[in-house]
Amino acid sequence: MNMNRNMNKKSRKQAVEELSLMLLYLTRFQENNEYCKYLEPSWKGYDFDTLNVLEQKELLYQPKKSKCVYLSEEGKEYARKLLAEYHLADKDLMEKYEFRSIRQEEAEQAVLIEQICFPPNEACSEKCMKERIAKAPELFLVAVDKTNGKLAGFLNGLATDEYSFRDDFFTDADLHKQDGQNIMLLGLDVLPEYRKQGLARELVFQYLRRERENDRGMLVLTCLQNKVKMYKKMGFVDRGIADSTWGGEEWHEMTYRIEFI
Ligand SMILES: CC(C)(COP(=O)(O)OP(=O)(O)OC[C@H]1O[C@@H](n2cnc3c(N)ncnc32)[C@H](O)[C@@H]1OP(=O)(O)O)[C@@H](O)C(=O)NCCC(=O)NCCS
Repeated sequence: MNMNRNMNKKSRKQAVEELSLMLLYLTRFQENNEYCKYLEPSWKGYDFDTLNVLEQKELLYQPKKSKCVYLSEEGKEYARKLLAEYHLADKDLMEKYEFRSIRQEEAEQAVLIEQICFPPNEACSEKCMKERIAKAPELFLVAVDKTNGKLAGFLNGLATDEYSFRDDFFTDADLHKQDGQNIMLLGLDVLPEYRKQGLARELVFQYLRRERENDRGMLVLTCLQNKVKMYKKMGFVDRGIADSTWGGEEWHEMTYRIEFI
């Protein structure tokens, strides 16, 4: 996603609303009060008209005579989407998960997660997964559940100077060229019990941020038709049907131009 291009399209009013909502989300705190210990207020020091609009949209509510406002569940959900769109880390996810490169001793966990997340015809084999982890651990970003130290999900890839996807990347880790210009993404996996809280999106954005620092040009992936919309929302562009017959299925090739962000 080209953040500057998208930001330019927003009106001043919309930008103020979105930025206020994100600030309210990021600065909310736990109230140490026996009557409302589950509520998370945020201080009300923002433009009152903006707060009123956000309340009309049911993204927050403002109790009378209080110095605080409270985000609704819709408000928190929307704030999380905006944080991803603005390429800002999600506080909740950063508190719950550690994002880092995989360690060799976590290879067995990654193999198991791949088998849980993908059907046999699509999943990476144990041998290929272990070779990939041995060859390019720095391109294997994991989200570790801080409560138990286990992997909750990951995104992995190989670097190359090629621009288009071919199935050999799935099976031949020797194609990895450490200083390659582009990344061929090979798998985005989130265990079922960790889904629907924005973890996949955060993995993609963390990966993007990291590879932007490494001066890469483009991320390339293949996905089935039913995931095209998901990747588009993350900023990828659909390049149409890919030159891939992996698992005997039809794949779309999607790309993300990192140099534009
Ligand atoms: C697909 C997958 C990685 C999503 O993980 P997740 O952590 O639940 O995803 P997120 O919560 O970050 O959701 C990000 C966006 O993708 C959408 N999305 C999530 N799962 C989806 C699915 N199975 N199909 C279509 N869209 C999906 C969400 O609606 C969300 O969009 P929203 O913000 O507008 O609501 C996870 O379900 C998984 O591991 N599935 C099996 C493996 C797989 O299919 N990987 C991708 C293959 S290319």
